[in-house]
Amino acid sequence: DWTMDAYRDEAIRLIRDQVSDKKVICGLSGGVDSSVAAVLIHEAIGDQLTCVFVDHGLLRQNEADEVVTMFRDHYNIPLIHADEAELFLGELDGVSDPETKRKIIGRLFIDVFQKYASDIEGAEFLAQGTLYPDVIESVSFSGGPSVTIKSHHNVGGLPEKMGLKLVEPLRELFKDEVRALGRELGLPDSFIGRHPFPGPGLAIRCPGEITREKLAILRKADAVFIDQIRKHGLYDDIWQAFVAILPVRTVGVMGDGRTYDFACALRAVTSVDGMTADYYPFSHDFLGETATRIINEVRGINRVTYDVTSKPPGTIEWE
Ligand code: XMP
Repeated sequence: DWTMDAYRDEAIRLIRDQVSDKKVICGLSGGVDSSVAAVLIHEAIGDQLTCVFVDHGLLRQNEADEVVTMFRDHYNIPLIHADEAELFLGELDGVSDPETKRKIIGRLFIDVFQKYASDIEGAEFLAQGTLYPDVIESVSFSGGPSVTIKSHHNVGGLPEKMGLKLVEPLRELFKDEVRALGRELGLPDSFIGRHPFPGPGLAIRCPGEITREKLAILRKADAVFIDQIRKHGLYDDIWQAFVAILPVRTVGVMGDGRTYDFACALRAVTSVDGMTADYYPFSHDFLGETATRIINEVRGINRVTYDVTSKPPGTIEWE
């Protein structure tokens, strides 16, 4: 695609002009936006870039390893893996209110990022994968009546606090253009096409108190659901799909025994931008097969439900 090719060269030139020989820190989440920003900036300035990957212990199965392998080992981008699961899960212990969870995670995220970033000597810039819709949204909402449904988790205010200047090479792009740029930069299609994943991670897919036991069960169930979706060739037709583990145990039978395990909900939606969404019309066969697989393969779950709420009135995530 010649336009993306030209865009990439121009973006690289602009990054070099802006940064010169200074150091840049990039917060890597494992998502598409921050990943594309990191690879682009690395092409422009090489090892003047260091990425900080804050691992809050609320990622999906194998996700942290995949991020580290791809960036550190495959792209040779200097990467600090801030493995702070203990800290986050400790502070979240006993917390069940959704907004409180988000605030704790958001605050710790900034603290942790700042702690690791301040170890990178002489850094003058902070890179962010801000997209054009983020730019417009922050403008159009300022001054207007503010209605917060869910507090979003980002690093707003951090650059000023740390005395860093911003590098935002994706500011003029829409999501599909970021994906095209990512392909241009050689990121694998499987990675570029991944469903969005929220900053607070599995915390908001575990309504009620978060425990390590529930997280472990959730990760396994989620992996089976996504595997089913891929096997049936549905992944690219769906905007987002995941499992939520419910804060309730229910009675079941297995073999000749009674079980008393967690119930879970499957969630899958189609959407254009995440603002509105419709539940995905899986066939009954697919749902039945998936429920059977989850109950057989995941110890700790004995009941599977499918969430058929669209947005509005529901939200995509459960919290
Ligand atoms: P809801 O649940 O509000 O989600 O319908 C809409 C989209 O936003 C994602 N989401 C988040 N993304 N930080 C993020 O980066 C957050 O705090 C957050 N909360 C929700 C959600 O996964 C969906 O794609």
